[in-house]
Amino acid sequence: MVLFHQNSISTLLITLFICSLSIDCKILECPSPPPDSTPLVPAILNFIDQRLALVFPIIQTFKNIITSDPLGVTATWVGPNICNYTGFYCDNPPDNLTATTIASIDFNGFQLTAPSLDGFIDQLPDLALFHANSNKFSGTISPKIASLKFLYELDLSNNLLSGVFPTSVINIPSLSFLDIRYNFFTGTVPPQIFMQTLDVLFLNNNNFMLTLPNNLGNTPVFYLTLANNKFTGPIPRTIGQASSTLIEVLLLNNLLTGCLPYQIGFLKNVTLFDVGGNLLTGPIPWSFGCLKKVEQLNLARNFFYGQVPEVVCALENLANLSLSYNYFTKVGPLCMKLIQKGVLDVRKNCIFGLPDQRSGRECMAFFLIPKSCPHPSLSFNIIPCQIHHWMKPKERTKRNLLSYSALSRNRVVL
Ligand SMILES: *[C@@H]1O[C@H](CO)[C@@H](O)[C@H](O)[C@H]1NC(C)=O
Ligand SMILES: *[C@@H]1O[C@H](CO)[C@@H](O)[C@H](O)[C@H]1NC(C)=O
Ligand SMILES: *[C@@H]1O[C@H](CO)[C@@H](O)[C@H](O)[C@H]1NC(C)=O
Ligand SMILES: *[C@@H]1O[C@H](CO)[C@@H](O)[C@H](O)[C@H]1NC(C)=O
Repeated sequence: MVLFHQNSISTLLITLFICSLSIDCKILECPSPPPDSTPLVPAILNFIDQRLALVFPIIQTFKNIITSDPLGVTATWVGPNICNYTGFYCDNPPDNLTATTIASIDFNGFQLTAPSLDGFIDQLPDLALFHANSNKFSGTISPKIASLKFLYELDLSNNLLSGVFPTSVINIPSLSFLDIRYNFFTGTVPPQIFMQTLDVLFLNNNNFMLTLPNNLGNTPVFYLTLANNKFTGPIPRTIGQASSTLIEVLLLNNLLTGCLPYQIGFLKNVTLFDVGGNLLTGPIPWSFGCLKKVEQLNLARNFFYGQVPEVVCALENLANLSLSYNYFTKVGPLCMKLIQKGVLDVRKNCIFGLPDQRSGRECMAFFLIPKSCPHPSLSFNIIPCQIHHWMKPKERTKRNLLSYSALSRNRVVL
């Protein structure tokens, strides 16, 4: 592509000089070239597309605020071949299939330090993917990211970002993957996020404080990870509405209270359900016997009590049932088998005759406190599915489930 015009050389040099005075120089704001000429700075740098010329100063400005780059990636961020910069990927944007633009950025593991992403990602209008796991980006997320109309995956996990939830993401209709775990976000989460057509929502390991909203069950996500925050309140009964989509649910280590709604039993596709380390109480609803695909079920470290339902121990895909540190009092023969196989952990409960239980005094003190769950006899014995008690259990195999890798800081490979 011949973009350089001999007859505009003097205008060009003046323009470059003016531009070089300011790091923030926007090419479009520089003096206009003669009408018959192509834009000047792009001309001398020979960008393959106007869209790349426009983002060039944005990238250079960002490069200048990076204070640490131990892997030296920014050394490649020079010259007009932006598509070859380490971490940047070009593609044809949906609104012009003959144009070339920055479609994707993958900074995963680059360990870059910068005080802000403001003025960077929000100024790359064609960005579809931004992955920045394990960097040291701080500051808050600009509401201007709402203008990224093609943004599909936003992974800001394991950074030093703070401030409130980046609410402007709820105005990005194309967004499908939102991973902001392992940051310092605080405050509430807008309930609208559970109406958004996401596949993945990873909010774990922040400081979010919110009573789980009633529309939680409207979420169409497959993977919901709210672990290690300060979410409060009961698990909404509406969770049952997500029955055909939810695959993994991680609510562990929050401040959830109340009893388990029997509607959790509607989650027929759930393979992982983890509410360990909360303030939940009540018995396990028999409806849990309908979690036909569940492999890992963690209710440890709560205030659950009663008998462990045999229908739960009969679940054929169950590879790990963690009920330790509760106040269960009874297990039947199927559950006993799981204890022997090492699938069911009931340490530190109140089950008479089993090893490593709480003291009689501890159990007595707990049962002296009056307790109740809403409509216990109505809801706790409901089994909203067909149960085949006589089915021979499958060989139980432990798989690594995806969301548990979200509990480590590294990027999650879907
Ligand atoms: C981009 O990099 C590739 C390989 O690293 C090289 O073959 C190609 O010539 C480069 N393109 C430009 C425009 O520099
Ligand atoms: C599409 O992009 C090409 C390459 O940048 C450009 O020449 C063309 O004018 C653009 N078309 C429209 C309709 O904007
Ligand atoms: C949920 O399970 C049904 C069958 O029980 C299946 O048709 C559907 O594809 C599953 N959904 C997901 C998201 O896996
Ligand atoms: C079972 O799950 C619990 C809770 O997530 C975990 O602590 C434990 O290590 C798991 N056990 C096995 C054998 O995987």
